[in-house]
Amino acid sequence: MPQAMRESAAALAAPGEAVGPLERGLTVLRVMAADPDSRQRASDLARATGLARSTVDRIAITLARLGYLRSEGRDLLLAPRLMELGNAYLASCGLPDALEPYAVALADELDESVSIAVPDGDAVRFITQATRRRAMSLAFRIGDLLPAERCAPGTVFAGGWDEADRGRWLARRREDPLDTAFPAVPPRVEPSPPELVEAAFDARVREAAGLGWALDDQFIEPGLVAVAHAVRDPAGTVVCALSVVSHTSRHSARSLREHALPRLRRVAAAMEEALRTPPRPGPPLAAPAPEAVDSGLKAELGPEFLQSLARGLAVLRALGSARGGLGLTAAAEAAALPRASARRALITLQYLGYVRADGGVFTLLPRVLELGYARLSRLSFGEIVRPHLVELTRQVRESASIAVLDGDEIRYVERVPTARIMSVDITVGTRFAAYATSMGRVLLADLPAPEQATRLARTRFEPLTRHTVTTADALADILETVRRDGYALVDEELEEGLRSAAMPLRDRLGSTVAAVNVSQHAGRATRQEFLDTVLPPLAGAVARIEADLAVASERQHISAT
Ligand code: PHB
Repeated sequence: MPQAMRESAAALAAPGEAVGPLERGLTVLRVMAADPDSRQRASDLARATGLARSTVDRIAITLARLGYLRSEGRDLLLAPRLMELGNAYLASCGLPDALEPYAVALADELDESVSIAVPDGDAVRFITQATRRRAMSLAFRIGDLLPAERCAPGTVFAGGWDEADRGRWLARRREDPLDTAFPAVPPRVEPSPPELVEAAFDARVREAAGLGWALDDQFIEPGLVAVAHAVRDPAGTVVCALSVVSHTSRHSARSLREHALPRLRRVAAAMEEALRTPPRPGPPLAAPAPEAVDSGLKAELGPEFLQSLARGLAVLRALGSARGGLGLTAAAEAAALPRASARRALITLQYLGYVRADGGVFTLLPRVLELGYARLSRLSFGEIVRPHLVELTRQVRESASIAVLDGDEIRYVERVPTARIMSVDITVGTRFAAYATSMGRVLLADLPAPEQATRLARTRFEPLTRHTVTTADALADILETVRRDGYALVDEELEEGLRSAAMPLRDRLGSTVAAVNVSQHAGRATRQEFLDTVLPPLAGAVARIEADLAVASERQHISAT
């Protein structure tokens, strides 16, 4: 962990009522998220946080039970479910929901990346990215943090700093001149003399304060140029900045300004108008997962489970259930906790900088995104699903795969083999006729009826084995059963001796996006034994994958293909 971060974590004394396990659990998450390496050993975490090894172990057990962390051998890794904390902030803050459509439209219009960032202390954090990033430049993610003095939005925000803000900025600059506390940006090659950096920034900030916009002429890395415009709330406070980002291969900073600024102005004005109009009542924001507060967990997991950590995180998530924050009573209710527990959790979260208390209303702050959001939002579909497939193969001791429909075939997108049971080796990219495979059948079964009928009508059935179903009518009946039962079993229809069962994998809206299967050699068990032993773990794996994908795709598209 960067020295600066360690020191600032230690600098403040915790209030007497702070919840120790919550504070320590958040420290572990923060340290893991800030480490350039995505996997850590408990012993390394103990060293980096100054916590006892046994404490780190209990925190890891608790976070793993919540789905926020997973272990691989002796390594610990952040897990996609953790993104629900950042999602809580993004939902309750309201800016992404209100403003993202404008950012996307502007990115389309200019064919350049557009982002929205909010101030976070003396830094800048992204809350929306409409990326048109081509090769050659860094692409920042939601949650990434930039030093204010190295980007256009920071120049805009610093116009509103008071002396204390400026003092904190100066202290951070002196302490961390190479920007090591900002994993998303390349470190400065050499520390520029602090007075020069400060004077140049001050001059830009003064200019931006008069103009309402600022330029970034390759402050982050050579080639990257941006122009940012302030967006104010109805009270006149700058709440975020809208940026257009390009590359010197297409625009100099100056030509980007000429090209983009008129439109940026217009869109910023439209955003300000949108912020004056109260949001239309949408669907209720996501409720916190009840399992985290279930006291049964404590009984189940015994003394190793840190209930007050789980409860504190439940309070954090609960604040995501309402736009604009919650009072103590409402927060306690939303987290299903006694007021006293919720209150202590809120005091702890406030002192750690994740929550602001204002006239009895508690709101989440952008710093919540430092808890792994940006790192986890970089995970691909394969990286999200693979650990679950590995666990599934461990449980059933058979190969497991994920495939998507591609034309009239299925195409494997992920596979964890055990023993080889096919005459051909299946790898990612392997294709089979959809009609003769269990994954194909769950994918076909979930198609809209007219599309399914069209596909069946054009399918050229071939008797791949003695058992292959070879008529559209027979397959249509099977697909109806598959749809009703929620799984498909294919027994020696693709290849003699091969049996497999598959279930659909659905996105957060309920659409089937892929299929998950387990296959075995047909001689190893009866068909019923296979179903009895495989379906429950398969269903469990599907549920966990769906939960991870739902959380990870709340603010971005994650494609299985
Ligand atoms: C970005 O959205 O990636 C971005 C925005 C403003 C900057 C630099 C990068 O100054």
